Amino acid sequence: MLLHIPEVLTKVQVQELRRILDAGAWVDGAGTAGPLAAESKRNAQFSTESSDYPPLSQAIVTALERQPLFVSAALPQHILPPMFNRYAVGNTYGNHVDNAIQMDRRSGTRVRTDVSVTVFLSEPEDYEGGELVVDDTYGSHEVKLPAGDAIVYPSSSLHRVEPVTAGARVASFLWVQSLVSDAWQRSMLFDLDMTLLKLRSQLGNTEEIVALTGHYHNLIRQWAK
Ligand code: NI
Repeated sequence: MLLHIPEVLTKVQVQELRRILDAGAWVDGAGTAGPLAAESKRNAQFSTESSDYPPLSQAIVTALERQPLFVSAALPQHILPPMFNRYAVGNTYGNHVDNAIQMDRRSGTRVRTDVSVTVFLSEPEDYEGGELVVDDTYGSHEVKLPAGDAIVYPSSSLHRVEPVTAGARVASFLWVQSLVSDAWQRSMLFDLDMTLLKLRSQLGNTEEIVALTGHYHNLIRQWAK
């Protein structure tokens, strides 16, 4: 399931983040990829050693946690600190699947990556190319969203970033360990939650809707680990 979440950040928030990011320190992005992925990864990454990095990263987490769509789709158990990347002209990231396990350097714990998130920080008209292409069982999906919008997709999917041919593409990206590791189970829970939300707004809290909501929570009890 690919889920587009609009306006995770306001345009003012994007401008403020970009002001700090654009003036800050960037390093070679290949340093944080696995050895296989590093061969096809050509981009820059905002230095995680920079004193600007922790508050910028936290701003992304705070904004995402306010989004009911994100919470329902990802069922987050552990959100890895968001990082930032920049694709200038000629930069690209070939087809890859993200590493299944990432180290959270703050706590030293290993985190399983179930859900990947990209928050776009450049407007689509500011660059050519640079589409995020995600493959799933229904085919290939090209994603290029307005600054401030996010895309949520299973970390198990093959994906790439097309070469940028003009301008620059700046984004934040992060991984989430979900309470429900299975993408299909998460997708079913999300659909059920969204349908219940609509039914509740149409009919109010009928006895049947309360019962179905109970099933939703009981499924989470069954599947959360
Ligand atoms: Ni990736």
